[in-house]
Amino acid sequence: MASKIAVIGTGYVGLIQSVGLADFGNYVTGVDVRPEIVERLSSGEPTIFEHDLTEYLRRNLDARRVRFTTAVSDAVSDAEVVFIAVGTPENGDGTSDLSQIRAVVDAIKASASASTVVVTKSTVPVGTNRWISQKLNGGETDRRFVVASNPEFLREGRAIQDFFHPDRVVIGFDDPDMPAARDARALLEDIYRPLYLTSTPFVWTTFETAELIKYAANAFLATKITFINQMANLAEAVGADVQTIARTMGMDGRISGKFLHPGPGYGGSCFPKDTKALAATGDSVGVDMSLVKAVITGNDAQKARTAEKIIRLSGGSVDDREVAVLGLAFKAETDDIRESPAISVVAALLEAGATVTVHDPKALVGFRAEMERRGFADGRIAYHTDVFACITGAEAIVILTEWNEYRNLDLPRAYTLMHRGVRSESRLFDTRNVLDPDAARKAGFVYIGTGR
Ligand code: UGA
Repeated sequence: MASKIAVIGTGYVGLIQSVGLADFGNYVTGVDVRPEIVERLSSGEPTIFEHDLTEYLRRNLDARRVRFTTAVSDAVSDAEVVFIAVGTPENGDGTSDLSQIRAVVDAIKASASASTVVVTKSTVPVGTNRWISQKLNGGETDRRFVVASNPEFLREGRAIQDFFHPDRVVIGFDDPDMPAARDARALLEDIYRPLYLTSTPFVWTTFETAELIKYAANAFLATKITFINQMANLAEAVGADVQTIARTMGMDGRISGKFLHPGPGYGGSCFPKDTKALAATGDSVGVDMSLVKAVITGNDAQKARTAEKIIRLSGGSVDDREVAVLGLAFKAETDDIRESPAISVVAALLEAGATVTVHDPKALVGFRAEMERRGFADGRIAYHTDVFACITGAEAIVILTEWNEYRNLDLPRAYTLMHRGVRSESRLFDTRNVLDPDAARKAGFVYIGTGR
């Protein structure tokens, strides 16, 4: 049976959730406070870059299964289920800023009807769902809201695919055995029916466990990356090959080769924020989270090391040299530059006196805005939509994002376009190990990978 659903917040999580649940046959109203976003989405234009999203958005708009509004009350008043999908950005001290969650909870309390199920999709620290439940059900109210914690595991760039083929769905209740929770469970099973039918594992648990599952998963993946980055640095120092090490580690089924790709450090809107929030949660209850803290500092060090290595291996200085940076997004297949290693690496190269030219297939606009916000005016960075224009005249190339366009780069052509003065040797820094070192050397480059 199709349900009436409200999704509050139409960022990454909320937009994919809106479109995905509509595609399952539900009637979804997505809410965003920003009128320009509501207008764009209503006209079938996604506000983020994500594979297949345009098609899914338009199909469900045409079928009138999804619509967008700025008014919470309009979406919530007749919804059976309300998903909270607003941002929980980082405070300066690593804790999560829950002001958007608080505002949404007040708005839901003001306009939702009796027996609405309120589901938290946003990543929230332990205790938040219990607080939401108390807030909604406290005071003078004849309504009983059932609250559920349903953390999100989408990857940017694969969000549509992850929505329709999740590894698992996690749903936490205050007390999963309470009759009201059992009714809410039946409703959520119905909303997610297509996943239920394809045998996706559903984990029914408590608030606190559901909240921690999300942080545990992200922190563990961040740990794997930081581990392999430090192994790469060690491999470099002793003359070993991290690629072979990672591949062989992955042959052990207990370890798995996934998330063992070394690089310039992890970025994005999730790992940096969630690791810090998890460490802050440990501090708040007096529990040692030293491993997670080491991952946070290790990742910051990896970003800094990437810039230092470029300078060190460029004869100790990039002053007055032109460096072409390929890849600005925090990973491939996204236009997102949040916490991208490119921000700190480009800033460090500029501070060391280099002239920097940059290219990215999707993230140029966002990167430019971020650099301007940080006070790096145009003129110090040249922005290119064509990769060969970016390379022309450069003395070194640095690949920071694993875009396929760079994996397939025409290396002989790139080499001929570079500047070759007396002091330069056409260095190619492949921080993601996406190129064949022999092919790069054959084309004339001095090839420098990570840990190989
Ligand atoms: C991550 C998780 O993978 C999702 O499961 C989760 O839902 C999401 O955070 C979230 O909390 O919302 P995402 O941030 O989209 O997803 O990106 P990932 O694909 O996990 O990559 C994160 C960072 O790690 C990127 O900078 C990537 O380049 C880096 N990475 C990843 C490596 O350096 N090496 C690897 O082997 C894998």
